Order: sequence, then structure tokens, then C-alpha cells
Amino acid sequence: MAARYGALCRAHLRLEYLRANATTHDFLFGAIAELIDNARDAGATRLDIFTVDNDQLQGGFMLCFLDDGCGMNPREATHLIYFGKSSKRQSASKLIGCYGNGLKSGSMRLGKDFILLTKQEDTMTCVLFSQTFCEREGLDEVIVPIPSWSVSTRKPVLHDAAMFAVQMSIIFKYSPFTSEDELMQQFDAIYGKSGTLIIIYNLKLMLNGEPELDIKTHSADMLIAGLPDNLPEKWSLRAYTAVLYFDPRMKIFIQAKKVETRYLPYCFYRPRMYPYFTFCFKAIAQNEIEKAKKDLKLAEQAVKEAKCQLKHLEESFLHEDNEPAHLALQDALENAKRTREKLEAKQR
Ligand SMILES: Nc1ncnc2c1ncn2[C@@H]1O[C@H](COP(=O)(O)OP(=O)(O)OP(=O)(O)O)[C@@H](O)[C@H]1O
Ligand SMILES: [Mg+2]
Repeated sequence: MAARYGALCRAHLRLEYLRANATTHDFLFGAIAELIDNARDAGATRLDIFTVDNDQLQGGFMLCFLDDGCGMNPREATHLIYFGKSSKRQSASKLIGCYGNGLKSGSMRLGKDFILLTKQEDTMTCVLFSQTFCEREGLDEVIVPIPSWSVSTRKPVLHDAAMFAVQMSIIFKYSPFTSEDELMQQFDAIYGKSGTLIIIYNLKLMLNGEPELDIKTHSADMLIAGLPDNLPEKWSLRAYTAVLYFDPRMKIFIQAKKVETRYLPYCFYRPRMYPYFTFCFKAIAQNEIEKAKKDLKLAEQAVKEAKCQLKHLEESFLHEDNEPAHLALQDALENAKRTREKLEAKQR
């Protein structure tokens, strides 16, 4: 059977491997994270995760990832289908990916098929990675149509017209898009100068026939269907993506609503502010003692003055009412006592 598609790209692996590889993601959001990581590695500033209803497809909707990252040229798009091949490994920068596996294992965990559309400079490239195609055509090796177009002319980048026609016929039959116009509309959704749109369809179902992702309960979230766990990060994609990165750089939108990312270090401990005036605590303490000594001197001076005043009044016999002078003396004495106590406390 595979001979019919002789000139098409092959991922150099068997269908069983594709299925087995998908089981590496037990946790559904872990599979989704592979696609989010790739958008981040592509330098995207924005990633939209959204669904499009389609009753014709298993699960009833398509799961889409649209980013404004660097996109891929036709050569890079061809490389992505190979397992274990990653250009990121040579890169000196701190990218997440390195195994050349995440896109395939993650997307195949979520659904049976995906179509990837990517734009870079003057090229638009489409990759159809479809288990359904391989199964229905009886292929035991994974064959992948990868046609390309020029952005400016919208004409196919042709090396072989017959091969292009075969690729398109497979895409129209096994993708949700049945004409070149429809496919071009998907490229138009890539709003940035470059970027990538990945559409996963024929989603995996649970035993009850329902899709694993519940998109109905919350219009702005995607939940893991079934019993909710205590931790929202385990069942709400919005909560999960809010804490996915230690240093979030990319805005993530789920069903068109922005995820409010939480700064991860603040989730672990409560930040506290300590007023910090000087490095020299000893000098500060010394200054405070000097000031307290001066205050005490002034207070003792005030006591002396109050005593003198009272004495003067008592001697003059002019006033019988010496009460205000008594009160002033009492105040001065109390103030001196307090100031002395303060000084003693600081000296301790
Ligand atoms: N959204 C994207 N934008 C641009 N390039 C992408 C995107 N997604 C995937 N790619 C390209 O496809 C290649 C394969 O992706 P894949 O996730 O399988 O492997 P990886 O990211 O290199 O390594 P890992 O298995 O550790 O994730 C990437 O190296 C990258 O070049
Ligand atoms: Mg990756």
C-alpha cells in the first residue's frame, strides 16, 4: 500500500510506535504542556488555546493551538515529523525541548490526528500527521503529506506537481478541510508575520464516549472530565497554565480569555518587607543613646526650673495659690523619670 505514496515523507516509524509513544503522557495537561512548551521555545509572545466545534469529528470539537512564534520553513517542518530529531539541542539558549518527541507524543495523546500550519517569511507549510489516514489506507509506516505555498503569490512551492496533488487529496480526505480555500483560511488565522497553528482532531474518548476534555462546564476553561481534585491545577487548564512557568514570558489565552499567570516564587512563600536603614547597627544604637542622654539632661533642667519657680512663689508671700507651680513641678518630675527609664533601656 505504502508504494502508492512512494515520494511522500516518512516519519521512519511504525504506527504501533506512534500509539505506544502517546501513552507516555498519563496526565492530559502534561500532553498539552508539550505544545505550550514548543510555542514558548519558538519565542511566541502569545499563545491561544481554543476549540472549534465540529460534529463530524470524534469528540465533537477540534483542539487548536495558535502562536505568533518564529514558525517553520518547509525544511524545518519536514524535520518535525522525525522522532528524536531536535534542532534545539544545538542551541546555546535555554530552550525547554531537546528530545524531538514532545509534539508527536503530546498531540497523539490528545487525538488521533493533527494538522499543523506554519508560516515563516514567504513560505506557508502544512503538515498532516494522521493515524486515521495510516489506518484506513492500511499503512504500517507513518507517511506525512507536507505541501508548501508562497505567502505572496499563494501558489504552491512545487517540486513535483503530481506529488503535490497526491498530498492535497490526502489532506482533503483526512483533515477537517476539504478545499485549498479552506486551508488558506487557516493560514490567514496566523496573524503574526510568522507563527504556527496546530489543530488536533478526532480526540481521544473516555469509556463513556465523552471527550476527556470538558469544554462545556466553563466557557473560558477546559477541564479534565470526571471527579475534580482538590488542587485546581490538576483539573483546570486555566489554573494549570497559570503556574506552568517559573518565569512566564508568553501570554496564554484559553477560549479567548487571558490566563492570569501567577508568579511561581510567590506561591511558595509570602513576601515580607523588612525596613533596613543601615548596615551599621552599632552606630545607630550609639546615636540613640546619645539622644536619650540629651533628652534626660533637658528633662532634669526642666525639673530644676520648676523647683526654682515654686520656691520663688513660696518665698514671695504674694500668692496663696501655688497649685499651678506644684503641678508644673510634678509634670517635670514625671517627664524626667520617663526619660531616665528610656535611657536606661537603651543602655541595656
Ligand atoms: N509551535 C512551534 N513553533 C515553531 N516550531 C515548532 C513548534 N512546535 C514544534 N516546532 C518544531 O518542531 C520540532 C519538534 O518538536 P518536538 O516537540 O517534537 O521536539 P522538541 O521540542 O525539539 O523536543 P522535546 O521532545 O523535548 O519537546 C521542534 O524542535 C521545533 O523545531
Ligand atoms: Mg517540544
